[in-house]
Amino acid sequence: MWDYTDKVRDHFLHPRNVGSLDGANAVGEVGSLACGDALKLFLKINDAGVIEDATFQTFGCASAIASSSVLTELLKGKTVAEARKLTNKDIADYLGGLPKEKMHCSVMGQEALEAALAAYQGEAAPRHEPEGELVCKCFGVYDGQIRRAIRENGLTSVEEVTDFTKAGGGCGDCLEKLQAILDEELGKAPAAAPEPVAAKPLTNLERMRRVAQVMDEEIRPNLKKDGGDIELVDIDGKTVLVALRGACKGCPVSNVTLTDFVQKRLQELVEPDITVREAGK
Ligand code: FES
Repeated sequence: MWDYTDKVRDHFLHPRNVGSLDGANAVGEVGSLACGDALKLFLKINDAGVIEDATFQTFGCASAIASSSVLTELLKGKTVAEARKLTNKDIADYLGGLPKEKMHCSVMGQEALEAALAAYQGEAAPRHEPEGELVCKCFGVYDGQIRRAIRENGLTSVEEVTDFTKAGGGCGDCLEKLQAILDEELGKAPAAAPEPVAAKPLTNLERMRRVAQVMDEEIRPNLKKDGGDIELVDIDGKTVLVALRGACKGCPVSNVTLTDFVQKRLQELVEPDITVREAGK
C-alpha cells in the first residue's frame, strides 16, 4: 500500500473546504470521471484581487483529496499574482511529499488553479483545455501537459512521466510516444526500437518463463500504480489464465484491461497468438 505522510492522512480523513462556494467568481475544472480523477475548484476573489475563500469538489484517491484540500488552504489570503506562482511542488511539499506514483494528484491541483484564474480573467472557459495532440487516450493526457511536467519537475524516465501525468498507466499504447517526447525534451536521439518477438516457436518452458517475466516486470507494476494487481494462475498451451486482484478485481472495465493491455503486451513481448483469460470464467 501507499506510504502516506501524516499530513496526507489528515487532509484525506479531514478534508478542508469541501463543496461548492456561493458567490464564487473563479471556477476551474480538470480531469474526468472516466479517467478516474476530477477536480473542480471554486474561488471567491475580492475587488483587491485577494482570494477570500476557496473550496473544492473532487473525485479521486486519498492523494487527490488531500492535494485539493491543501490547495484551498494555501490559496486563502493570497493575491491572484501570488496564486499564479503556486506549483504542484508546493502542494506536494506542504503535504510532506506524495508517493511518486501519486504526483499527478498535485499536478491536477495546479491545473485546476490555472483554469480558475484564467476563467476569472476572462482568458478561458472554466474547463481546462490542454494543448497539443492527445497522447494518452486511456487518461486523456495531451502533449503539452507531458512536456510541461517533464520541464517543471525535471523528469528523466517514462515511469516518472506516468507518475506525474498518469499517461502510460493503462493499455501502454502511448509508451513509445512518451519516450519520443521525453527524448525530444531531453535533447536525446530516439531510443532503439524494442526487440522483435522471437521468430522461432517457443517451447512450453520458454513460453512459461517469458510470460512470468513480462507479468512481473511489465504488467504487474503498471496495474499496481492504480491499486490493481494480477496473478498468473496457469498456462495452457498458448492460453494464459490469470486472476485479477486489488482494484482490478470487479472493475467494470477489467475485460478491457485484460485484452487491451495484458494480452496485447504478452502478444508483443512473448508470442503474437497468445490469449489471456480470467481463470474460472
Ligand atoms: S493510451 Fe496511454 S496508457 Fe493507454
